[in-house]
Amino acid sequence: MKKRTTCAVLSCMLALGAYIPCVEAEVHTMYAPDGRTLAVDVSEIELYKSVGWYYNESDVEVITMYAPDGRTIDILRAERDAYKNVGWYDTAEEVSITMYSTDGRTIRVFRDEGEAYRAVNWYYNIEDVTIIMYDNNGNEHRVYKDNIQSAKDNGWSENKSDVMQLMFAADGRTIYVPKNEVEAYMNVGWYRGGGTIDPSRPMVAITFDDGPGAYTDKILNCLEKYGAHATFFVQGQSVGKYATTVSRAVSLGCEIGNHTWNHTSLKDLSADKISSQITSTNNAIYNAIGAYPKLYRPPYGSYSKTVLAAIPSMPAILWSVDTLDWKTRNASKTCESVFGSTKDGSIILMHDIHSPTADAVETIVPGLLMRGYQLVTVSELISIRRGSISGGVTYSSVK
Ligand code: NI
Repeated sequence: MKKRTTCAVLSCMLALGAYIPCVEAEVHTMYAPDGRTLAVDVSEIELYKSVGWYYNESDVEVITMYAPDGRTIDILRAERDAYKNVGWYDTAEEVSITMYSTDGRTIRVFRDEGEAYRAVNWYYNIEDVTIIMYDNNGNEHRVYKDNIQSAKDNGWSENKSDVMQLMFAADGRTIYVPKNEVEAYMNVGWYRGGGTIDPSRPMVAITFDDGPGAYTDKILNCLEKYGAHATFFVQGQSVGKYATTVSRAVSLGCEIGNHTWNHTSLKDLSADKISSQITSTNNAIYNAIGAYPKLYRPPYGSYSKTVLAAIPSMPAILWSVDTLDWKTRNASKTCESVFGSTKDGSIILMHDIHSPTADAVETIVPGLLMRGYQLVTVSELISIRRGSISGGVTYSSVK
């Protein structure tokens, strides 16, 4: 029993020995902004904090904060979050921005000065003072707006198609090549896609009536792939529903023409009603693309002197190649009709509201390009071949 008591005392002493470091662990060093340090009992930490002592050495490190108006302030790191919450920043970079001038200069200004600089023609983004231009090899360059003219003088262009030619292979591959390499590519089996119009080469105008509709975008995909242009004679009543498609057509270089509000035979209407069919459709087109059409196509090709006189500012566009796609609803027959009848200056009639027509277009567009025709809009065809477009007359082909 005695031995056991000794043993208990020993273990008690051991426990005390182990307890001493524990007492030390309950002391924490606190830091004052003036550099003093003080070891305090952990239970007193909050008390010391409340009278200006800090928990970490890094809390009393002096840092500089930056305001967007250019002021700076030296504070303790412990105060950083409070300053950030009221609009101060950690670095000088964060409170200043780079602004851009159209002549290529840049300047660093404080954020708060941005609007004042904006008012004297400095800009926030380099995209605001530059455009993308293409050199003679088709390489992209960012050109400051003040330098656009001298870039143009060197043969650069904003339009890739001005300096590069879209070429395609029979298997459907497409590439852009520098214009001086076009002949070399043609010699090894490539064909010319769309691009700037060469007035000396054959050209035809493909036209689509009665849309826009569910297949118009599929046709646009094909025109886009080959860089080809076409003209869409739309019904005013369908334009609102397909406004995105109509504006996409324009962005691809296609033309929008007027095909009356609801496909009415104009020959059977009074001058007032003719005018109303045309005007309401012109307005619908204007709402979709921000421009009025230059042309109309009378439904069924039906017109009279009264019709032409009622629409004196626009020509009536007829056709010279009638594919009868609306009747056959057969892509092969539509292709045969086009390839069998098309000549230089032809205006080809199809309808973009029929699915077989959209299928046929995928053969017709590359097929006509392979035969050497440029695919242009009706307005391009008339203005290149005639110099200007007359109103109150008809055109059915333009040689
Ligand atoms: Ni029609």
